[in-house]
Amino acid sequence: MAIFRELLATLKDHHGPNTQFQVIYEVLEMNDFNSLFKRMSGIIPDPPSYLLEMDNVYVLASVTNFYKQCVPSNSMHFMLSMTSVHWLSRTPTTFKDSIYKDAKSSTGETAALNKQAELDWDTFLLKRSRELKRGGLLVVDTCAEFEDRNAGDRYLLESFIGLLTEIWKEYSGTGKITKEEFVNTNLSFCLHNMEQMTRPFDNKTSTVSRSGLTLLSAEAVVNPDVFYNNWREKKEKEGIDDREEFARMYVSAHRNWSNSTFMNGLSASRSLEEKEQIVDGLYDDVKKRISRMNPEIFKDDLKFKYIVVRKE
Ligand SMILES: C[S@@+](CC[C@H](N)C(=O)[O-])C[C@H]1O[C@@H](n2cnc3c(N)ncnc32)[C@H](O)[C@@H]1O
Repeated sequence: MAIFRELLATLKDHHGPNTQFQVIYEVLEMNDFNSLFKRMSGIIPDPPSYLLEMDNVYVLASVTNFYKQCVPSNSMHFMLSMTSVHWLSRTPTTFKDSIYKDAKSSTGETAALNKQAELDWDTFLLKRSRELKRGGLLVVDTCAEFEDRNAGDRYLLESFIGLLTEIWKEYSGTGKITKEEFVNTNLSFCLHNMEQMTRPFDNKTSTVSRSGLTLLSAEAVVNPDVFYNNWREKKEKEGIDDREEFARMYVSAHRNWSNSTFMNGLSASRSLEEKEQIVDGLYDDVKKRISRMNPEIFKDDLKFKYIVVRKE
């Protein structure tokens, strides 16, 4: 709400109050569009909807996979994709010993992941290139690796993904899940590094460059771990070392995007109830394990890449 309020206010200042704007929210079909519309109309009042205070703004929704064209060619002035393009179009490999690339992944596994990430990023950019008008802008923020020699090559949420892997592996060791289910559980995403994000623009003869897209800026951004900051503030101001709350907040925030990976990894021969019971147990165990850890060690700042692209 805040971003679009500011963006539309700036554009209205520039183009005049009678200029009409169309905003299209785009996401996959299983998402909760009803909450979006309830927010837009103010039925869910917080944060306040910009639609209630602005004329000449029209909101629509698009329900299309973003690896396909989502809107007519040559129709968009501005496109914003937040924290989404790390999700790939398909699972490129089964990691034998983990749920995502880690230090023990084979070169074959890592190569398959990188290859799919490269293909998908090109596809995403080429589709957006068709949709953008000449002079139009595309802004993308994506979850990323953290490229800092002092920190090592860590990626976003590495502590959390490492812990999920560890407990899931224990489940396969004790027979709670099968070895096959462990191998079939893979996060279908790639946490990009800067070279992966900028590669299509570096080569002026690439299909992306030839489609008319040029890179205006690329930036690595670190957003501090909000749950760690809350825990520390409570400790410093109130003298309460509330590791249970840290664990509860952390797990509920990050279960929403990771839950389906574990449900999908379990065998189709299991009932839905059985799958839910196993996955509920997993997140309970993760929560318990985190609450026994020192947040100073577990904390994981979020790493993003922000890029701005123009269609020439
Ligand atoms: C972390 S959420 C970000 C949502 C929103 N952009 C934001 O910043 O709050 C990632 C979103 O990407 C969506 N997504 C993943 N793959 C997609 C695809 N191929 N096409 C469209 N949406 C996709 C997911 O459904 C999810 O809603």
